[in-house]
Amino acid sequence: MENEVAEITRAVFERFGYDFRGYRHRPLEGRMRYLCTKLRLADFAELRDWILANPDRIDFVIENLTISVSDYFREPETFAEVKTRIFSLLSSFSSITIWHAGCAGGQEVFSLAVLLKEAGLYSRARIFASDISGARLNAARGGAKIPLNQFETVERRYRESGGAGLLTSHLRMSGDGFRFDPALMDNVTFVEHNLATDGVFCEANLIFCRNVLIYFGDDLQLQVFNLFQDSLARGGFLCLGSRETPIGAGPGFVKEQGCNRIYRPLRPPRGPILAMA
Ligand SMILES: C[S@@+](CC[C@H](N)C(=O)[O-])C[C@H]1O[C@@H](n2cnc3c(N)ncnc32)[C@H](O)[C@@H]1O
Repeated sequence: MENEVAEITRAVFERFGYDFRGYRHRPLEGRMRYLCTKLRLADFAELRDWILANPDRIDFVIENLTISVSDYFREPETFAEVKTRIFSLLSSFSSITIWHAGCAGGQEVFSLAVLLKEAGLYSRARIFASDISGARLNAARGGAKIPLNQFETVERRYRESGGAGLLTSHLRMSGDGFRFDPALMDNVTFVEHNLATDGVFCEANLIFCRNVLIYFGDDLQLQVFNLFQDSLARGGFLCLGSRETPIGAGPGFVKEQGCNRIYRPLRPPRGPILAMA
C-alpha cells in the first residue's frame, strides 16, 4: 500500500506541482481511501487514473486529500496565552503583521480578529490567511458562519480565550445562525500558499500554524520551520497547535517563557537581500 500511496503522490506532483510526498503516510493513505469510497473507485490504481484523467479535478483532490477540521476559538487556552502574553508586546508596534498558515475556512482568523479588536489592535493589524485549498479560501472569503445550535459552545470558548465583551457584538444575525461582522475582514487578505512548495511572502510578527504540521513528516516539518524562521520579523512569535512542537524538528525555536503553545526563533531573522552593485 505504501508504494501505491507514493505512486499517487509522485504522479500528482509531476503532473500538477502539488507536493504531498513529505506528508505522513498513514493520514494520507486514510484520505486516499476516503476519496476512493466517495468516488466509488475500486482501488488506488483507479484513483490515480481518475485524478490524472482530467486536470479540472485537482482542486477537488486537494480539498479531499487534506483535512479541514477547524472551529471558532479552537483550543481557547492558546488564544488566552496569545492575548495575555503577546498582545502587550505587539501593542508597541505601529503596524502588526499576522500570518495564519493553513487557515481552513477562516475560523481561527475571525477568532483572533475579535480578540485583536477588543484589545484595540485590529486597526493596525495586517492579516494574511493562507491555505493550500482554493475552495476553503473561497468559503472563508464568503464570511464565517456560526449555526444557532453551536452558538453556546462558541461563546464559552470565546470567554475561555479571554473574550472581554459580548460575542454577539461581533456577530450579525443571518438565517438560522450568525455571521461575523464583515468589518472583521477589512484587514484580512486570503491567499493561496502551499507550505510544502512556496516560499516567504511576508515578514510577520506572529505566525499561527495550528493543526497543520501534524500531517507532515519530520523532513517537511523541518522545511516549514525554516520557512517560518525566514518569515518572522525580529522579535516575532510562532503559535502551534496543542499536538505540535518544533522540539525534535531542529534547534530553531524555543518556547516563550511562561507559554505552552508560543515559540520564538533562536536565530535572528534573515537580513535584507541586497542587490549586487
Ligand atoms: C486541520 S485544518 C487546521 C485549520 C486551523 N489552523 C485550525 O487549527 O483550526 C488543516 C488545514 O491545513 C491546510 N493544509 C494542508 N496542507 C497544506 C499545505 N501544504 N500548505 C498550506 N495549507 C495546508 C488544509 O487545507 C487545512 O485547511
